Amino acid sequence: MPMPSLILSLVVLSPSLLISLAFSPMIGINYGQVANNLPSPEKVIPLLRSIGVNRVKLFDTNPNILRSFAGTDIELTVGLPDPLIPQIRDPATALSWIRSNIKPYLLRTKISAITVGNEVLTSNDSALIQNLLPAMKSVHYALASVGLDRRIAVTTAHSLTVLSSSYPPSAGAFQPGLLTYICPLIHFLNKTRSPFLINAYPFFAYKADPKRVSLDYVLFRPNAGVVDNSTGLRYGNMLHAQVDALLAAVAAAGVERTVEVRVSETGWPSAGDDDEVGASPENARMYNGNLMKMVAGGKGTPMRPESPLQVYVFALFNENLKPGPTSERHYGLFKPDGTPAYDLTASLRAVNSTTGFEKSPPRLTGPMSTGSFHTGTSSASVSESSPRNFLT
Ligand SMILES: *[C@@H]1O[C@H](CO)[C@@H](O)[C@H](O)[C@H]1NC(C)=O
Ligand SMILES: *[C@@H]1O[C@H](CO)[C@@H](O)[C@H](O)[C@H]1NC(C)=O
Ligand SMILES: *[C@@H]1O[C@H](CO)[C@@H](O)[C@H](O)[C@H]1NC(C)=O
Ligand SMILES: *[C@@H]1O[C@H](CO)[C@@H](O)[C@H](O)[C@H]1NC(C)=O
Repeated sequence: MPMPSLILSLVVLSPSLLISLAFSPMIGINYGQVANNLPSPEKVIPLLRSIGVNRVKLFDTNPNILRSFAGTDIELTVGLPDPLIPQIRDPATALSWIRSNIKPYLLRTKISAITVGNEVLTSNDSALIQNLLPAMKSVHYALASVGLDRRIAVTTAHSLTVLSSSYPPSAGAFQPGLLTYICPLIHFLNKTRSPFLINAYPFFAYKADPKRVSLDYVLFRPNAGVVDNSTGLRYGNMLHAQVDALLAAVAAAGVERTVEVRVSETGWPSAGDDDEVGASPENARMYNGNLMKMVAGGKGTPMRPESPLQVYVFALFNENLKPGPTSERHYGLFKPDGTPAYDLTASLRAVNSTTGFEKSPPRLTGPMSTGSFHTGTSSASVSESSPRNFLT
């Protein structure tokens, strides 16, 4: 990409934004690569700085990208791609994968988590589904055998369609057919102190039923909110309701363990097909700006107000090779030439006049015991079928 455009994008950033977000340890972004026109990885770091992001989630272990983050304080979550899962179940294969894809970079690159697969449980691939947890365990034990299990967490990212019910949040429940996989997974995540990752897109719910779903509620704008009558908790935005539905599902799963829930992907497209109501630069700016501001403020969800919700925005760039509807190729905060897809910085500046979020200083939390990673995977498309789950 031409350098001038990158420089241009840096000029638009506001010093106040840098100050307000630079100290937040919690804003992450997905750096997806399903494109043939992205800038080289070393041009990415200034872009991340410009929006105050210090955590990055990758969908693989691309050596050039891992090297480009060397010597930075940016914390990476890397992905072990779905097709490898059946082989990785074998402990020797897992160890050799760690030795060649993780270990060589650790001296200079901060890798704090590995996501094994993306949205595997809602794929229709029974070989992947059955091998998922065994593969995660093999990766964990491989890390332990080289002394890295406390530094690097092992988890996987789920589509919100793992839930069969999400409304009201207190009624959250997993699809009954998945419990046999999810219960032992919760147990493993609890035991290894790793988070449960969820890809959550209020956009899908809005797009599916724009007449019934309040745009203010999904875009974090002032609104009356929704009260969950069985808990008395009031939800001011749909993302929090979705996360709490997941927490309720964990509690209802019948495993006497709990987990931290993090949002491994969320975002809003700046363009879409004619039938994709709500996909616009204005709405994308509002959603991502308000989201990032809220995360920087260290807010938890109504069920866990004291635990700052950790989130990875989807995504860094528009990805021109993603299949599916037009929206899929327009989730980026940046265009491939490094210019902003829309003026996010103005949105972040204006946020306190539009959302009424309390201005609390970002809460600096120490690294989680196994490393404070986030993970998720890139495929917004896989979650596409989820909206109906959030409507009834
Ligand atoms: C899984 O299979 C069902 C039934 O064949 C189908 O309706 C659904 O779309 C499939 N899901 C995925 C993610 O392929
Ligand atoms: C909660 O109760 C109020 C008053 O009865 C009702 O209007 C509202 O729809 C209920 N909300 C839910 C989520 O059931
Ligand atoms: C594991 O589950 C127990 C019981 O619910 C809970 O007290 C503990 O905090 C959980 N650990 C983690 C790391 O979530
Ligand atoms: C922005 O936040 C500050 C500090 O909380 C507050 O004093 C001010 O009134 C807010 N501005 C607007 C326009 O709401």
